[in-house]
Amino acid sequence: MNQKKVWLLTMLFVTMVLTSIITGYSHSVKAASSLGKDTLTMITSPDYPPYEFYDTKGGDRQIVGFDVDIAKTIAQELGFKLQIIESDFNGLIPALQAKRADFVMAGMTPTPERQKNVDFSIIYYQAKDTIVALKNRNLKQIQDLAFKKVGVQLGTIQEQNAQKIAQKVRGIELKQLNRVPEIIQEIKSGRIDAAIVEDTVARGFAQANTDLEFNVIPSDEVSGSAIAFPKGSPLVEPFNKVLQQMKEKKELEKLVTKWFSQTTLTATSAESPVKGGLNLDFTRIIPDIPFMLKGIPLTLLFTLLSVFLGLIWGTVLSLCKITGIKPLTWLANAYTSVFRGTPLLLQLALVYYATPQLTGYDISALEAGVLTFTLNSGAYMSETIRGGIQAVDKGQTEAAMSMGVPYRLMMWDIILPQALKNILPALVNETIGLLKDSALVSTIGVVEILRSAQIVGANKYIYFEPLLFAGLIYYILVMGLTRSAAVLERKLRQSE
Ligand code: ARG
Repeated sequence: MNQKKVWLLTMLFVTMVLTSIITGYSHSVKAASSLGKDTLTMITSPDYPPYEFYDTKGGDRQIVGFDVDIAKTIAQELGFKLQIIESDFNGLIPALQAKRADFVMAGMTPTPERQKNVDFSIIYYQAKDTIVALKNRNLKQIQDLAFKKVGVQLGTIQEQNAQKIAQKVRGIELKQLNRVPEIIQEIKSGRIDAAIVEDTVARGFAQANTDLEFNVIPSDEVSGSAIAFPKGSPLVEPFNKVLQQMKEKKELEKLVTKWFSQTTLTATSAESPVKGGLNLDFTRIIPDIPFMLKGIPLTLLFTLLSVFLGLIWGTVLSLCKITGIKPLTWLANAYTSVFRGTPLLLQLALVYYATPQLTGYDISALEAGVLTFTLNSGAYMSETIRGGIQAVDKGQTEAAMSMGVPYRLMMWDIILPQALKNILPALVNETIGLLKDSALVSTIGVVEILRSAQIVGANKYIYFEPLLFAGLIYYILVMGLTRSAAVLERKLRQSE
């Protein structure tokens, strides 16, 4: 009996601690929704050096760049604090519409289609498109792209422009990718022949990769960058004023020189991988190890919280399944079948993107992750727990009933504790599964272990080393978990 109380108190305590940590975390990634606020939230796609990218030096997790400096200046001028959140480029405008952010700065060009959905500031920088390819391939003009595979970033004007080119030049096959560094990587590994990339961005990548070259595509249109706001935003006017001021005072020019004239990429130059060999060099990621290790607490927090809440939710569901009250049983079964019958990744995307629109609550990526994982693992655990309960010797129930112990007390004091002990190995399995699946939240922008590894890989143009390192971290975490579970199990058996 005492043991059960201790277990209950521990569980309560852990849940409380975890909840307070997670609300602390999620505070920093939430958009204030009214304008009577002191912080502005900017959303960007930090795959675009020197406009915006992660600075991984020294283990900081900072998004820096030309756009960020401009945003900071404007926010300061207008008396706001600035907060920056991220998403892939094609998710930026939807994020404005979902009121997740007050403005987008991502080297975004005001196009007529976009103008239908968002408002733009004046243009603060002009850019041209270029063809990026390996030097020895001699792909310099659009005619050279005939029958070639050409990479572009999904949802950008480069994608549109490439489609236009494909109407003029025969046989072009387009490949849309989510992030620019991925495109560069694909060129280097020979999976695509060339890519269409903006000049300033291309220059940075070519400086860091001496085997790459870029050639400007002659065109009468230049594409400018502007700041995007939700339709009707009262911020457009004040932002334009400050931008104008920055132009007049030549502050903008200074920032252009700061970010566009020298190599601002954190990358060291890298040659194409040798054909046939993997060419691993772990020394290149040593400076970024602290950055990647910072993903661990987040991953652990996420997993433990989801397991605890999932356990509670799973218990509730399993009790519904065995009550004998038909509608409850039916509901719990239907619930389980839906959550087990659809992909977790899909559930995650639905919860993250649909919640703000359905409820008006601006759910943070981390909260969406915990909620989805709780709902999902609750479904799996409910079956495990149900099995555990039904495996408890019938005699126990009968004895309790004949002694007049009420149903609730019997469940809580006698049956559930035994069931839990029996299903411990299954619970450990579930936890391990959740720990590894937590990598899925990287898709909605939580910088956990996998996402950190991808950021480092993108900055350094190396893929395998950071990924292998991330794999090692996961493996060590799972081993740690398995060990502690074994100890716990032994303790429980001894106390029998
Ligand atoms: N200027 C282009 C556009 O508006 C590409 C911008 C891509 N930006 C980024 N942060 N990846 O479509």
